[in-house]
Amino acid sequence: MAVDVVAVRTAGLGSVPEHLLGPVERARADGYRRAEDRRLSVVASLLVRAVAGRTLGIAPGVVAVERRCPRCGGPHGAPYVDGGPLLSVSHCAGLVVVAASGLPVGVDAEPADRRDMSDVAGILLGEGEPVPADDAGLLRTWVRKEAVLKATGLGLTVDLTAVRVSAPDDPAAVVHHGPDPGLPIALADVALPGAVGAVAVLSDSPLEVRTLDGTALLAGL
Ligand SMILES: CC(C)(COP(=O)(O)OP(=O)(O)OC[C@H]1O[C@@H](n2cnc3c(N)ncnc32)[C@H](O)[C@@H]1OP(=O)(O)O)[C@@H](O)C(=O)NCCC(=O)NCCS
Repeated sequence: MAVDVVAVRTAGLGSVPEHLLGPVERARADGYRRAEDRRLSVVASLLVRAVAGRTLGIAPGVVAVERRCPRCGGPHGAPYVDGGPLLSVSHCAGLVVVAASGLPVGVDAEPADRRDMSDVAGILLGEGEPVPADDAGLLRTWVRKEAVLKATGLGLTVDLTAVRVSAPDDPAAVVHHGPDPGLPIALADVALPGAVGAVAVLSDSPLEVRTLDGTALLAGL
């Protein structure tokens, strides 16, 4: 199953065409107090428009982006573009990542230098689940699980312990998905600049991850 992963670091990006954003995206961005968080939101919205517009063959400025929570139908959750690819967004520490696929997709990224991982082991690992040897292993386990929960749309309404994934040094795979054990979920690790990433797609085929240069995509807007 093909999945596109587009990453961009906001540092050094220069000015971006904010005028392409719709009023809802602009209001979301303006809701952030810290300038760097606003910037991440703006860049994520532009990247979503660029990725969906590219697939649909239309200009990014006319892409109609909605939010439709699969749980409650409310206007929140992952961005959704009617007729376009299914999308997922993650942002952290100056990095924006957008994943797009033909089936429900989830992407997660965490800074590679995140050092509080032993503190989160308690909420990450279920009873009897092998404990990764170090912070890097915990981080890898974290992003794999969050990618899965974002692909299903459940997000953190479900405990991370409800999902089990393969050991950090083994190829990425879902070992058990508590909320719906029969659901086919393909998982892959993603190499990102300065971050650890994973992408999941609700598919029974292995993932063919294509990485695209987000900076070049934004430059073309
Ligand atoms: C999304 C979530 C897992 C957090 O991820 P995080 O590591 O803190 O942040 P990330 O940057 O990786 O991801 C945030 C993005 O996930 C997406 N997202 C939010 N909720 C999502 C969900 N339920 N499923 C998939 N993606 C979701 C959004 O695109 C969001 O970014 P945006 O709002 O700027 O577009 C967590 O905040 C969450 O579960 N939120 C939803 C809770 C929920 O569903 N509540 C019930 C509503 S009825």
